[in-house]
Amino acid sequence: MTSTTTRTPDLKIPYSACLLEQTPDPCAIVIVGASGDLTSRKLIPALFNLHQTGALPEPFFILGCARTPLNSARFREKMKDGLREKGAVDPPAWEAFSACLQYQTIDYDDPSTFTRLGKTLEALEGRFPVGGNRVFYLSIPPALYPATVEMLGKAGLAAEGKPGWVRIVVEKPFGRDLASAKELDRTLHAHFREHQIFRIDHYLAKETVQNILMFRFANAIFEPLWNRQYIAGVHITAAETLGVAHRAGYYEGTGVLRDMFQNHMMQLLALTAMEPPSRFEAEQVRDEKAKTYRALRPFPVEALWESLVLGQYGAGEINGKAVRAYRDEPGVDPESLTPTFARMKLFLDNWRWQGVPFYLTSGKRLPEKRTEITIQFKEVPHAMFRNTLGESISANRLTLSIYPQEKIYLTFQTKNPGARVCLRSVTMDFNYHQNYSGPRLDAYEKVLLDCMLGDQMLFWRQDGVELCWGFLTPILRECESCGDRARMLLPYESGAWGPEGGDPWMETLE
Ligand code: BG6
Repeated sequence: MTSTTTRTPDLKIPYSACLLEQTPDPCAIVIVGASGDLTSRKLIPALFNLHQTGALPEPFFILGCARTPLNSARFREKMKDGLREKGAVDPPAWEAFSACLQYQTIDYDDPSTFTRLGKTLEALEGRFPVGGNRVFYLSIPPALYPATVEMLGKAGLAAEGKPGWVRIVVEKPFGRDLASAKELDRTLHAHFREHQIFRIDHYLAKETVQNILMFRFANAIFEPLWNRQYIAGVHITAAETLGVAHRAGYYEGTGVLRDMFQNHMMQLLALTAMEPPSRFEAEQVRDEKAKTYRALRPFPVEALWESLVLGQYGAGEINGKAVRAYRDEPGVDPESLTPTFARMKLFLDNWRWQGVPFYLTSGKRLPEKRTEITIQFKEVPHAMFRNTLGESISANRLTLSIYPQEKIYLTFQTKNPGARVCLRSVTMDFNYHQNYSGPRLDAYEKVLLDCMLGDQMLFWRQDGVELCWGFLTPILRECESCGDRARMLLPYESGAWGPEGGDPWMETLE
């Protein structure tokens, strides 16, 4: 017989166990479109931090390339300016990092510049022997993806084993509907194989998003309740205070359904609703996600507005400051019909979730930046306190809060202290960083590292992309071709929770 000992959880877990297990192979990161915003705001800061924490391989180098004529020295200066905007830059750390930074001008229409890129890489690999391992990170407008992929392929830069591995990172949006997503995939697959393609969704790399599967499947007590018998509804919310800012060129033709729903919201839905994979491995996790998307009940496009609210922000106030209407933003058509808010009710047709509504809400210029998943449990089956207390008893609610608070909290009922018998709602919470003081990886650090390690767990697989487009394309088609489009797009004041009926806490959509 084995003896069991009871012990309280050890709060001094050896957290080092959670740090990097493996350093990636030596490699080069080629950032295509390196003069753009994403490179200086996200990619270089992430790589700089990884360099400082010793997580990057040795040797390693970064080759930035774009249409903007720059030399390597000027490129380094620009990148340093970007870093300075985030805080002070340690001079020796910058010196060591910037020695790995190079730049070359390319032209997306001129194949000879890609041949030259190959030559530059070979020359740099003489100085930094990375064994031919290369990551091509496409940090360019999506319209340039096909041409760039063709150019890389034709210049012989996509082929592996000459020597080393080659990977390509593509940022969303992956197409703008099912047909264009398939077309993009055909172009990628004409030159790269699936194991080389990394389709980024930065939501997947957020710590608290990764934690959803751990929370659900590493604990025995939640999963038995995680189904239609106990759950009344699920709310998935990604609210932002930001407006479209300087991204009108992209956003006008995109709108909230393509920008947030096709990717981030669908990933949050899959993590909340999927079945447990038998092993925690990339293919198995992605198989289960695909099964969840296959269970999406086709949207009732003939009665679209019973399950969908679309809105566009007008002028208003955010954090006490007056902000302009979407249609008055620079680069936006003054008669634009692009939605900046959507709330959708959907169902999954499977055993676990039959009949449980999922409410997905996302919008810009809402009162606060908040990303969270709320599981609304059913009410108690018999309200034995109703006669005594004469009041309704709120059902339990479990919230997985992703931003700004990284915490999980459960609301439940207790007796109020005192002589009078009455109930009150209280919360029990867990703060994600509680008792942890080790290093943290931000989303871009995590995806860059995983890509160097060849781990596709946190990246989209093409079948998931197509299944989600398959669900959304009829909705988009109906919304965009509907004669009543202008009437269906409800205005809302900036700083409000969307148009009427858009409040993420409303149980029904009118
Ligand atoms: C991006 C969208 O993918 O996600 C943006 O293109 C949006 O429009 C952003 O603002 C939200 O990301 P986060 O991490 O700030 O919630």
